[in-house]
Amino acid sequence: MNRKVTVVGGAGNVGATVARAIAQKELADVVIVDIAETKAAGVALDIYQSMPIEGSAARVLGVGTKDFAESASSDVVVITSGVPRKPGMSRDDLLAVNYKIMQDVTAEVVKHSPNCIIVPVANPLDAMSQAVYRLSAFPRERVIGMAGVLDSARMSTFIAMELNVSVENVSSFVLGGHGDTMVPLPRFSTVAGVPITELMSPERVRAICERTANGGAEITKLVGTSAWYAPGASAALMVEAILKDQKKIMPCSVFLQGEYGIRDLFVGVPVKLGARGVEQIIEITLTADEQAALHKSAGAVKELVDVIKV
Ligand code: LAC
Repeated sequence: MNRKVTVVGGAGNVGATVARAIAQKELADVVIVDIAETKAAGVALDIYQSMPIEGSAARVLGVGTKDFAESASSDVVVITSGVPRKPGMSRDDLLAVNYKIMQDVTAEVVKHSPNCIIVPVANPLDAMSQAVYRLSAFPRERVIGMAGVLDSARMSTFIAMELNVSVENVSSFVLGGHGDTMVPLPRFSTVAGVPITELMSPERVRAICERTANGGAEITKLVGTSAWYAPGASAALMVEAILKDQKKIMPCSVFLQGEYGIRDLFVGVPVKLGARGVEQIIEITLTADEQAALHKSAGAVKELVDVIKV
């Protein structure tokens, strides 16, 4: 194929899920790079061997980090490297260790794919995205953190469960950082175009917003490590929008420069994704309460980026 996507940390749960989804959808050839060299080779081979069954011509290769050159000239690089959460840990507990990993990985990505679009997935998501952005010195259009797609998918699932409707009818809207302070927006979350505030009691709406904000922790507690199917599918959806130049609007963590009254900080907002990466940041008018919640969430991201000074 003439498109190439690299998944760094691709032998891990989230990375392998992203790699598989991209290959299965025949979006691009996929290179898995991972510190666990033999596992990278094995996972890639296993995914490649599923292609004849899935009916996709995508090629999949897995290499260790010393062979980063195999990723050269990737169109998109997804960074899933990093330590995942254990039960009871917050995403913020991963800050220092994952920042060190971002430093090593970003240097290699920039060296081998200077024109790529980077999709960071490591936690704490917004701070790691900002680290990658600063370290890469890429324009802000080309560093797009994955969080809002996952958070709104979780919200949509909870809404579908509550109302016993198809998830395909549900469209959810979540702003802010990928943490406990994220801001689900019920009045923009709809079922077949109808806001959920018309379809359920304020208590049920509140419960769904709360469950959404704790969605990652809920899985971590149940499974013993952090989620991978929904995070992997979310990153693959973003890659698809970019490679197919779909101009799809999705909530992503991007470097704001005054939008929503926030400056020099990665925070989740709706953006238009296309071949150039972030092609537009969509600004909507928020109520005073929503604006306050968004700024509180941005404040939580700011605390983290100040610690690592990015
Ligand atoms: C989650 C982790 C991946 O939300 O941040 O599941």
